[in-house]
Amino acid sequence: MKLLPLSKAAAAARDATLSYAAFDHLATMVAVISPDGQCVFANASFENVLGLSRKSVLRGSVFDWFVDSQRVRDTVEAVARNDFSTSRLEALLRRPALANDPLPVHLIVNQMDGQPHVLVELVEIEQQTRQDREERALGQAKANKELIRNLAHEIKNPLGGIRGAAQLLEMEVESKALTEYTQVIINEADRLQALVDRLLAPHRRPHVVSDVNIHEVCERVRSLILAEFPRGLAVKRDYDISIPEFRGDREQLIQAVLNIAHNAAQALVDRVAVGDAAITLRTRIARQVTLGKQRYLLALELHIEDNGPGVPEAIRERIFYPLVSGRDGGSGLGLTLAQTFVQQHQGTVECESVPGKTLFKIVIPLP
Ligand SMILES: Nc1ncnc2c1ncn2[C@@H]1O[C@H](COP(=O)(O)OP(=O)(O)OP(=O)(O)O)[C@@H](O)[C@H]1O
Ligand SMILES: [Mg+2]
Repeated sequence: MKLLPLSKAAAAARDATLSYAAFDHLATMVAVISPDGQCVFANASFENVLGLSRKSVLRGSVFDWFVDSQRVRDTVEAVARNDFSTSRLEALLRRPALANDPLPVHLIVNQMDGQPHVLVELVEIEQQTRQDREERALGQAKANKELIRNLAHEIKNPLGGIRGAAQLLEMEVESKALTEYTQVIINEADRLQALVDRLLAPHRRPHVVSDVNIHEVCERVRSLILAEFPRGLAVKRDYDISIPEFRGDREQLIQAVLNIAHNAAQALVDRVAVGDAAITLRTRIARQVTLGKQRYLLALELHIEDNGPGVPEAIRERIFYPLVSGRDGGSGLGLTLAQTFVQQHQGTVECESVPGKTLFKIVIPLP
């Protein structure tokens, strides 16, 4: 069979596809268009949302994809004319594959350096709202932690004085019955002191950065947990050993993973008694992840999974908040600390829990 030479238009389309190929990795929809609305390139996310093949996407005018096409056309022309270097608007995207059920989007139109084309980026408004919500929750969590830290400082100072005074008093009083009271003051002051110390712990020690091997972290945690629960609990490993080292604070990460694994072990008491309690430490590489507002090509996922009864429903939404505990004698700080340490590595930690399977997922960007 004789191969026909590519037509000029087909060759141009192929060149565009090659030079913009990196856009295919984005989760947001991106298209490169000429000022008259001709589509030069649309990335994979765009094709998916439109439900059209790349060929049919390239055939049409981009303006026709929007319910209010004139407004989109005006914006694109204004950017192409250099009235603005970038412009944003809200629009409704038609989706031919979904009976034209329109999708509300934020449209961002940008100039492209040295090219006559413009770059059109679309973000689903619902996705945007979710991101806003997540951001607000993060902001709130940060404010909470700050409040607690300040409060801890305020408690710490007089606490030393109270304890000292009780000790002096104890030396003065002769009655045994009265020393019982001073003992109560001293013991309670010590308990409060330990709590305050834990509240302030993440801000005490500086962030010490070195090369971290995540499997060394897992192995340390594994041996610490096994030392405490030598019988009835299996700590299984499921490692992807190709995960590269990264810069981070090893001790902080050990503490974070240990706090999570320790909770799992505590939740497993009934199964430990029977002998079939299991915690799994699993490592994986994730690609193209968005953490906070930032997008990363590579990230490390560490799962800490247990086969226990699950996080009590009543506190499921709040377990990362300070002082939230579902355990007798728990101070409710373990997960707050773990989250702070992971966040200091630009990472996130999430929890999914049903009876029989609780999964804590730590995600940390890799270089
Ligand atoms: N794997 C798990 N399975 C079931 N419940 C869990 C699990 N992990 C956490 N929880 C619940 O979340 C709560 C909060 O955990 P967190 O580590 O923050 O505090 P704590 O364990 O109560 O106290 P601390 O760790 O400060 O001694 C726990 O009390 C427990 O009820
Ligand atoms: Mg705990």
